[in-house]
Order: sequence, then C-alpha cells, then structure tokens
Amino acid sequence: MSSKRPINSAINSGQSGGLGSGHLFGDPDDEPPWEETIAPGAVLLRRHASAQAEALLAAARQVVAAAPLRHLVTPGGKTMSVAMTNCGDWGWVSDRRGYRYDPIDPDSGRPWPPMPDIFREVARNAADRAGYPDFAPQACLMNLYRPGTRLTLHQDRDELDLAAPIVSVSLGLPAIFLFGGLQRGDRTRRFPLQHGDVAVWGGPSRLAFHGIAPLAEGHHPATGSVRVNLTFRKTR
Ligand code: SIN
Ligand code: FE2
Repeated sequence: MSSKRPINSAINSGQSGGLGSGHLFGDPDDEPPWEETIAPGAVLLRRHASAQAEALLAAARQVVAAAPLRHLVTPGGKTMSVAMTNCGDWGWVSDRRGYRYDPIDPDSGRPWPPMPDIFREVARNAADRAGYPDFAPQACLMNLYRPGTRLTLHQDRDELDLAAPIVSVSLGLPAIFLFGGLQRGDRTRRFPLQHGDVAVWGGPSRLAFHGIAPLAEGHHPATGSVRVNLTFRKTR
C-alpha cells in the first residue's frame, strides 16, 4: 500500500482523492466507442462503458458500503496489494486455504450484496458486442488499485464454466493491461486501458495469462487517485 488512508473511505468519498462523482464534460470520454481485437476471442471495447461510468461508480459505492474493500491473503501467505470486494451470487476469495468462489462474504458472514442492474447490463452488452451473446454473470469482483499496486500475471481458472468469457471494466486512472498467451512464459503484450474501456476475453483466449502493471500516480475526475476495475464472470 502506498498510502495509509483507509481504502473504504477513499472509495466512498466524493472529495478529491476519493471515488468522486464529478461530471466529465469536454473529456476524451466523449469519443465514440471503437473496438480492437488483441488475440483470437479477445477484444478491447474502447470507451464502451464511458456513458455509464458515473452510474457504475455510484453503484460501486453502494456495494462497498455493504461489503467493504479488503486486502486478501494468497495461499502462499502474501497480502495482495489490490483491494477487493464482490457482488453477485458468488464472490471470489483467497486465503491460506486457496482461491475459490464463495456465496458468503467471509468478513461479514452474510451473502455478498446483489449485483446492481447497471453492472449486469454493461457486462452483457459488452459480451454481446465481443461476440459472446447472453452473458449472465454470477460474480463481479471489484478491484481497487492505488498508485504502485499491481496484479501479477495469472489465469482466471477458478470458474467451472470456461465457455463464458471474462468481462472486465476499467474506471478512473489508466493502467497497463498485460496480455499473454496460454503458457506463463509466452510473450506478454502491453495495452493501455482508459476510463470506460472494457476488455472481453473468451474462446481460445479464455485461459490467457494477464495482469496489470504497477499503477502510475495520477488524478482522474471520476475517481481521484485510484483505478477501479469490475470483472464479471460466470462461475458455474
Ligand atoms: C483481473 O485480472 O481480475 C483484473 C484485471 C484488471 O484490473 O483490469
Ligand atoms: Fe484476472
């Protein structure tokens, strides 16, 4: 962690430095969306979620109020630098026992908050546009990145249904998406991700290794000093 400021007040605050609610007039976010295929079955839907970004962030704040962000511990005992929470029927969790999907938030003992309709709609729409119709996510993992935090190269393979794609929405500060092949040692390419971009990977790329390079310092009118990522999955 690069800051001692509590993560949940950061995401709840509308103040500068928090996950704010500013309007984005005159921003590059007004660009019409476009698409870039980065590998077979993998596409970046540029600015696809820009128009819904404020609604997504408002809903994200509600989720965090019910299921606060936390730093999970890996099975190997390392504390993850990215802060996480979930909504939907299943939440992705990690602890000394392993990685898994759990219907219960282990911090509260209660079910995860329901997935907001706007989350579901944006995810389904993006999947449709990427060629994966009728995507019905059961889990949404929310990742909060502060400058300096990263997500090391990994595969999303805790889902029982690998026919459904992964849909991943970027909000706030830009990041570098690392996208490799099916083997850890395959060449990794770097793709900048901006506020409103949606990455979708499935089919032959469903098990591609991917990650996020350490986040650079910056300020974004919608989120202040953080990046928020929403990753949607069909778990079973
Ligand atoms: C993930 O791989 O779960 C998140 C990727 C991202 O933050 O864009
Ligand atoms: Fe992932």
